[in-house]
Amino acid sequence: MKTLDTVLQEHRTFPPSQTFTEKARIDAAGLSALHAQAERDPVAFWAEQARELLLWRTPFTQTLDESRAPFVTWFADGELNLTESCLDRHLATHRRNKAALIWEGEPTERGVESRVLTYFELHREVCRAANALRTLGVKTGDRVVIYMPMIPELVIAVLACARLGATHSVIFGGFSAEAIRDRVQDAGATCVLTADGGYRRGKVIPLKQNVDEALHSCPGVKHVVVVSRVGCDVSMHAGRDHFWADLLRGQSAHCPAVAVPAEHPLFILYTSGTTGKPKGVVHSTGGYGTQVAYTTRHVFDLRDEDTYFCTADVGWITGHSYIAYGPLLHGATVLIYEGAPDTPHRGRLWEICERWGATILYTAPTAIRSFMRWGDEWPKRHDLSSLRLLGTVGEPINPAAWLWYHETIGQGRCPIVDTWWQTETGAIMVSPLPGATATKPGSCTQPLPGLSVEVIHKDGTRCQPGQGGFLVISRPWPSQLRTVWGDPERYRKTYFGDMFIDGKPVYFTGDGARLDEDGYLWVVGRVDDVLNVAGHRIGTAEVESALVSHPAVAEAAVVGRPDELKGQALVAFVTLRAGSAQRSDAPLSASEAAAEILRKHVVKEIGAIARPDEIRFTEALPKTRSGKIMRRLLREIACSGRARGDVTTLEDIAVLERLSAQHSDEE
Ligand code: WT7
Repeated sequence: MKTLDTVLQEHRTFPPSQTFTEKARIDAAGLSALHAQAERDPVAFWAEQARELLLWRTPFTQTLDESRAPFVTWFADGELNLTESCLDRHLATHRRNKAALIWEGEPTERGVESRVLTYFELHREVCRAANALRTLGVKTGDRVVIYMPMIPELVIAVLACARLGATHSVIFGGFSAEAIRDRVQDAGATCVLTADGGYRRGKVIPLKQNVDEALHSCPGVKHVVVVSRVGCDVSMHAGRDHFWADLLRGQSAHCPAVAVPAEHPLFILYTSGTTGKPKGVVHSTGGYGTQVAYTTRHVFDLRDEDTYFCTADVGWITGHSYIAYGPLLHGATVLIYEGAPDTPHRGRLWEICERWGATILYTAPTAIRSFMRWGDEWPKRHDLSSLRLLGTVGEPINPAAWLWYHETIGQGRCPIVDTWWQTETGAIMVSPLPGATATKPGSCTQPLPGLSVEVIHKDGTRCQPGQGGFLVISRPWPSQLRTVWGDPERYRKTYFGDMFIDGKPVYFTGDGARLDEDGYLWVVGRVDDVLNVAGHRIGTAEVESALVSHPAVAEAAVVGRPDELKGQALVAFVTLRAGSAQRSDAPLSASEAAAEILRKHVVKEIGAIARPDEIRFTEALPKTRSGKIMRRLLREIACSGRARGDVTTLEDIAVLERLSAQHSDEE
């Protein structure tokens, strides 16, 4: 009965409540008007948003330039510094002494640790940090890598770079030394900002040690700045390494913001693709800022009195757009938390919501599924009556999780915005507006005004309601990535090489989607060799190249298998080199030691997020006659234990039989 309920409820729609709509920035009529205005002249629409939402040092006269498509520019002759919009302009208003950042640390042994920075204080700290970086020679156009835990200094560091026009590249604190090395080298970074360590589930992650290891092969890095967060011992290289506190001491609280052209790269953020090498996604300043400001305002219905809580890490795009930039552009109060949601107990997030009176909560479906599993007793222990709006991002949300979020966290009162976007889109593209759109659990509903997201067939014709196809973006948008750092050809091929409408290349998202009878979008997930594990994007090729870098591994193929909690789990099929200790014909139990060695190896090469859930040893991988690994078959074996589809191109059918047999042994 319970399952039947869930299936039936999937078709329910949730219109915005009257109490929400009354106060909302935009209601249904407002949304239609905005759509109409945007469709009349999308480019003029965005230009108006850019003028209204951002401070410009030099107003732009140019808008969208598509003459070198797919390399486009927006507002190219305008100049600005985004930190003036995030900070300086609020200082002349009632927001001067308003909380900009409320931060809570993970450890609680000595009581709850928190810091509140007002707009005045955040501005001062950003200026002092920027001045400090300037004394190290950091200047406009330089690349600065930031590898920090979720502490206020992370946001300060990001904004300090932007203040100087230096392009930041944040690396998530869960990545390994090898991953840092690759990114530092690819970006050509000259400076790294880090911390001694960071807390995660009560343990200390040795961030500075990872940086030291990475920098052995990064001679281009001249300076490393270290925030003391955990107080652990770190080795400091004379001349290269500096403590953050020492460097900032005595720095002036004023630092002129360097105005840069709108197209100046604000940041590079590395993300996984279908090859072994991560892509440096490059975002602009003016276009990015415009769409981030626009979406933050409308999707989160942001108001001055809100306490906006986003659980993402600044190391991902969500943290860039909807912690560091979006909310600050509107002078909002942003609540951030350093650690894990189950430390020291499984009610930590709800305790934080209650303590600070969070009004908006933005989190990931994978987190929601964990909360569900942990049980209702945890949220029930806390007063969540301050919440008025909930958001999700990162992967499709299953209706059961949506309904739980709605009932148990939102207490039936809060609209849910399911926001679809990507690292490459920079900002939200598809989402309901909370005061305007009737939502359906599991659907991200419709593209926001000004954006053109469509579902097409492989031949470029548009899908009709009820049909499934490929999710594409058929018009340039202000916050679109501008290129792949150092590899413009990869940008063109990856995003504009596959899908065409009327013969014209359109941006392909890598996602499959279905359009329902109301024109709502249901994103199914990636259709390329990219996996979404617990909301983190992982390229199968990246994990494969990490596996084959181990001397015992001859070949590896990685596929995804549906996972109740994480969305997808990583399954690796591995063949070992002849003579290496572990052979596939040995009993499976004996493979565990070898599997563990390989798991550790992947963690070392990439980071814990890429740790395979399952490693299966096999004598050979199923291949086509031309030698291509047949991942489709491996996926079927990983999911169901058997390959059912067409195997006519398979080179050695015996391989498949052995793989399937191996699975039934396990059961
Ligand atoms: C991929 C992008 C955007 C920040 C977090 C992830 C999936 C994202 C949704 C959603 C269904 C979603 C897509 C997309 N995705 N949001 N609301 N519904 N799928 O950023 O690492 O760049 O991953 O996440 O598959 O392509 P990312």
